[in-house]
Amino acid sequence: MKRISILTIISLGLLSLSMLASARQANTIAEHEPPELSVSFQFEEKTGQALFEGICQGCHMPAGEGAKGAAAYPPLANNPKLAGAAYPVYLVLKGQGGMPAFSRNLNDEQVAEVVNYVRSHFGNQYADKVQATDVAKLR
Ligand code: HEC
Repeated sequence: MKRISILTIISLGLLSLSMLASARQANTIAEHEPPELSVSFQFEEKTGQALFEGICQGCHMPAGEGAKGAAAYPPLANNPKLAGAAYPVYLVLKGQGGMPAFSRNLNDEQVAEVVNYVRSHFGNQYADKVQATDVAKLR
């Protein structure tokens, strides 16, 4: 219950951030597109672990186990959908449903780092590494 409330607070915070961003961009972003964080905000974390802890674990939980509360956050742990690197890279860049798009808030190296981190932790053992140049192609 405690986790769920923290999660709810974090999600509400992110939600209001993204609502602010979309209000500002109402003219350019269609209604159905996933929420975006403030366009000028850039995360400073550089390692996959720091990025995961700073951004992803608020929704996907510290061991990537996912959660169900105000919304469903799929587990990243033991997730066969991470076998292909393009899928998580695409989701981090573009968002989907309740997952925000981070393309403006993370550079290519940061996206590669955090994707490599989740693909090699939490029971995922995908050895191939994503490079920043791969991320650039999916932007
Ligand atoms: C605000 C909450 C939130 C944050 C922060 C967040 N996600 Fe998500 N994520 C979601 C939700 C909700 C979904 C399900 C999206 C859908 O399919 O509707 C999701 C889906 C995913 C999926 C697809 C999982 C599957 O089984 O299909 C991946 C991979 C993923 N997120 C990775 C990340 C990474 C990496 C980060 C950090 C950079 C991150 N997410 C940050 C909420 C979040």
